[in-house]
Amino acid sequence: MTARILSGTEVARQVRERIAREVVALRESTGVTPGLVTILVGDNPASVSYVTGKQRTAKELGFYSVQDDQPADVSEDGLVELIGRYNDDPAIHGILVQLPLPKHINETRVLYAIDPDKDVDGLHPMNLGRLMIGEARFYPCTPFGIRELLAMADVETKGAEVVVVGRSNLVGKPISMMLVQKEANANSTVTMCHTATRDLAAHTRRADILIVAAGRAKAITADMVKDGAIVIDVGVNRIGMTPEGKAKLCGDVDFDAVKEKASVITPVPGGVGPMTITMLMANTLKAARLAAERK
Ligand code: GUN
Repeated sequence: MTARILSGTEVARQVRERIAREVVALRESTGVTPGLVTILVGDNPASVSYVTGKQRTAKELGFYSVQDDQPADVSEDGLVELIGRYNDDPAIHGILVQLPLPKHINETRVLYAIDPDKDVDGLHPMNLGRLMIGEARFYPCTPFGIRELLAMADVETKGAEVVVVGRSNLVGKPISMMLVQKEANANSTVTMCHTATRDLAAHTRRADILIVAAGRAKAITADMVKDGAIVIDVGVNRIGMTPEGKAKLCGDVDFDAVKEKASVITPVPGGVGPMTITMLMANTLKAARLAAERK
């Protein structure tokens, strides 16, 4: 079997068109323009590239957007104080602090400092707790993008064996919690695998839907995948530079071999990545709507 390539770029384009229309409608009916600030500490090249993409998309969709660059040696207190100012700024509905942060900053304390109503990244412990009990307000953007991709591709998740490789707070844990909920586009049987899993292949071979966020290039080979499986590759590994000076990327899945076995597979780049940015915009629009209702 040769897999259907599930283009996140194409699905993201459709979702963005809808968001752009809804931004205009919100402004016309309430006078509110969604506002997003992205805070970048230091100049990690991957983070600079992600934040640039988020800012570009926000502008394209008609958002008010602010890029706030902080030096790598900004203090934790300084960062928390800065977030406090955006919490109080009525023009800002969404606050994103790009991760990872430098070692001297306690990430959890920074995430706690964000007003949960402006936490469009969905990483505040309050929002992660709400997600766990089936009362989510903002889903973390990458898991949200994965769920949208599966829904747009008409993948049946109810009763499906889902295997997630990776247990990060950003992807592995939240996508597992989302797909286990008794609700539409979920209701799956979920297994979460990680670095201490004894026989990883024994788990991945059982998966109807295999979601890989392991952070290791080509960690999943064809022998680890069931015939006809749906494979979602969250990995973004930098494996060199193109002649044009752009980063060369590859996923956590051995794409060329696995595409001959899977029924559906996401590419890297052009799979989950564009969806992550798009769902950040969807969350920011939702935050702006909630703020408009409270006015
Ligand atoms: N770094 C990599 N992915 C993400 C993300 O989704 N949100 C934030 N804040 N930082 C990230």
